[in-house]
Amino acid sequence: MSHEPSLAVTAANVRMFAPDGTPPPDAPDWIRHFDHPYLHGAFAPTDIEYEAEDLEVEGEIPADLCGAYVMNGPSQRFEPVNEKYHYYDGDAQLRAIYFRDGKATFKQKYLHNGAFIVEDKAGKAIWPGLAGPYDFRLPGSPIKDVSNTDVIFYNGKILSLWYMAGDPYQVDPLTLETVGRETLGGNLSHSVSAHSKTDPFSKQMFFFNYQDEPPYMSYGMANADGTLNFDIDIDLAGPRSPHDMGLTENYAILHDLPFYHDVDLLKKFGRRVMGFHRDQPARFGLIDRFGRSDKVQWFEAEPCYILHIANSWEEGDWVHMVGCRQEDPMPVKDPADHHLASMMSYRRRTHILYRWSFNTKTGAVSEGPMDDRNTEFPTVNTNFVGRKTRYSYNQVIPIPHEGSLEGRCQTFNAMVRYDLETGETQRYDYGDGVYGSEAPVAPAHGATTASDEGRAYPVTFITDTNDWSSYCLIFDADDITKPIAKVKIPRRISIGFHTTWIDGADIWAA
Ligand SMILES: [Fe+2]
Repeated sequence: MSHEPSLAVTAANVRMFAPDGTPPPDAPDWIRHFDHPYLHGAFAPTDIEYEAEDLEVEGEIPADLCGAYVMNGPSQRFEPVNEKYHYYDGDAQLRAIYFRDGKATFKQKYLHNGAFIVEDKAGKAIWPGLAGPYDFRLPGSPIKDVSNTDVIFYNGKILSLWYMAGDPYQVDPLTLETVGRETLGGNLSHSVSAHSKTDPFSKQMFFFNYQDEPPYMSYGMANADGTLNFDIDIDLAGPRSPHDMGLTENYAILHDLPFYHDVDLLKKFGRRVMGFHRDQPARFGLIDRFGRSDKVQWFEAEPCYILHIANSWEEGDWVHMVGCRQEDPMPVKDPADHHLASMMSYRRRTHILYRWSFNTKTGAVSEGPMDDRNTEFPTVNTNFVGRKTRYSYNQVIPIPHEGSLEGRCQTFNAMVRYDLETGETQRYDYGDGVYGSEAPVAPAHGATTASDEGRAYPVTFITDTNDWSSYCLIFDADDITKPIAKVKIPRRISIGFHTTWIDGADIWAA
């Protein structure tokens, strides 16, 4: 293998990197051998575990902001197996900022799950990643279950989750030390998908699993004390690839979407080849969220794919779901991306904010777009998950266009607040070469009533490629056009995936 960059997809030709194309100084040396945009620049791994107290602040941390903002995301530790890397492969690294009494502390630590511990002892990567080839001789998954996708707070612990559906791992919310695998008292018999949800008040967890063998999907609920309440099979026509689900006060909304992989090709070649079946509807299944019935009421809508739901709620006989819809999820490969064309194209699909409404009495479906901008990673005030919300806070993803290097990798260049009732928007642009993260909306301490949706603080981690600095921005949920505080993080943060907000009353009682 030549270690000289030879492809078009290089650090130097993608604007997200430093203006002169050099890697960040704290990135591991081995990345220089890899001509891969998701190992360089704002995405370059940072393999340092550390904590820092009493962080420097511009502006003022609100006195009623109390809790932790936690992000999961990839930070590849060793040179990838087979010299192949996919953006989704990196080892799970947790980054957390804690706010209390107007002060902030930051911690960064790897998740020490099964695969991480084995590779740590070996001093090298062992499992292949999504770019394959899959190795079915290895224990566990034929690719590494990195558990790097999402984090939620459940039963006094952070849970790390993986988008392919994997083993959830418990993490101490104060130390970020890995505790062990979450088994729900030994009763969790399968994997769990990335976008499980916890009710902020009842503390129950709602989750689904999907797999290539029957039953193709299951849905379950765990009690607040860490025990399994129920886990039921969901009847589908074949394997699917759902990513998220909706949750209302009485229902879970399961996704059966016509964008899924070919099982025969998976068996024959060990590769997931995705196809969009435009002749099949998008199906949404409403099921009693508490498992009082295993009956699923299915609704059909226009074909599409969905990564993330902003929120869903009930109004009379209607159940509403707002999320980011992909009209055409089939990625278009750019030959300039050479052998990385497939992976690069999957991160360049477009998504628009969209509303689906289902009538539980008549079976009617109403649907339609709410905007035309390319936004994703939507969040709402965490106290309002499953309850009617007026605002959604989305990350703006630039769309690549000919002659421009912008948008070649997925980055968040701005945050938009949608008013779902009036259609009005607010926007904050992070700046040239400056990238944000999914921004959970932290409720102000004590703001728990229906009129308190705006008493909250969207928070986001920032990576600035101009000087490799990082910081956390705090916004007032009612006006996101400028941050109210900027908290300096001592070292660069590598761009991550999903995040959560943990209320201080939960975290310091844990
Ligand atoms: Fe996701």
